[in-house]
Amino acid sequence: MDRMGVEICVEGLTKSFGHQVIWQDVSLTMPAGEVSVMLGPSGTGKSVFLKTLVGLLKPERGSITIQGRDITKLRERDLYEVRKLFGVLFQDGALFGSMNLYDNIAFPLREHTRKSESEIRRIVLEKMDMVGLIGSEDKLPGEISGGMRKRAGLARALVLDPEIILFDEPDSGLDPVRVAYLNQLIVDLNAQIDATFLIVTHDIASARQVPDNIGLLFRRELVMFGPREQLLTSEEPVVRQFLNGRMQGPIGMAEEKDAAQVEQELAQLADPAPDQELTPRLLPGPGITRPPRWQAIADREAALHRKEVADA
Ligand SMILES: Nc1ncnc2c1ncn2[C@@H]1O[C@H](COP(=O)(O)OP(=O)(O)OP(=O)(O)O)[C@@H](O)[C@H]1O
Ligand SMILES: [Mg+2]
Repeated sequence: MDRMGVEICVEGLTKSFGHQVIWQDVSLTMPAGEVSVMLGPSGTGKSVFLKTLVGLLKPERGSITIQGRDITKLRERDLYEVRKLFGVLFQDGALFGSMNLYDNIAFPLREHTRKSESEIRRIVLEKMDMVGLIGSEDKLPGEISGGMRKRAGLARALVLDPEIILFDEPDSGLDPVRVAYLNQLIVDLNAQIDATFLIVTHDIASARQVPDNIGLLFRRELVMFGPREQLLTSEEPVVRQFLNGRMQGPIGMAEEKDAAQVEQELAQLADPAPDQELTPRLLPGPGITRPPRWQAIADREAALHRKEVADA
């Protein structure tokens, strides 16, 4: 396989609605073929970020460079071409309620390609098989569980063989077992199709074990974006609070606490719960041929584990 996904380079990006700045001066590079997770309290603009990446929303400043082109500057016609690189699973799933799962998943192929119905059938069934939905072709979205709808949205995001896959909270509303299956599915997919993934999630356990990179949006800024291990071991208070799921710290119920309150809480916090250990990375399952990138990750994890056993 010669594909490696494509790099997405975001520089100095700012998005506002009227006078409300959502986030400003966001810069990050999502390396080709890697999995990145974007975290942040509710309302910090994660969904707006995904929509800006696909060109559905226009930023006021900054650039998004994909394959050498700044997509914020493209005309609508060229943008249409660039969008074919993307597979997107929107937060609400966005399936058509009156269409069965087969037709929902076939929709992008019928809309964007001239493929024959027999070719479409092969692709749709292949993707339905990938997400474990074979046998549910005739079901309407209203007749299936939330988890099945998510997986149908995922299958639909995959049919055009995207180079970039964006998931907006693929795990929200799923039970813990289904979240575990979904995470395995995401890792397996990344090993199989080698696209560049960006996942928005609130699930810390997923954020800790699935991605290569983690980013955190807070108070209208990208607080940090970098390799998973760097964020998981970061001393930055916002990052530590979020990744350890604590109440104590700069992030409050109404998203922001004032400085005095933070000081007071930290003073009261004589014996904070210890930070979580560095979570092992989730690896592609048995039966999935690992490309060199994943083999290197697996070797590294195995070496880390051997060291832990030796240290114990
Ligand atoms: N089209 C729009 N017009 C005006 N304001 C918008 C629009 N879309 C989003 N917003 C505002 O942008 C802010 C960020 O919204 P967004 O949906 O990106 O948050 P989020 O981080 O995805 O939250 P959640 O975790 O709850 O999904 C919110 O204040 C929202 O009201
Ligand atoms: Mg959202």
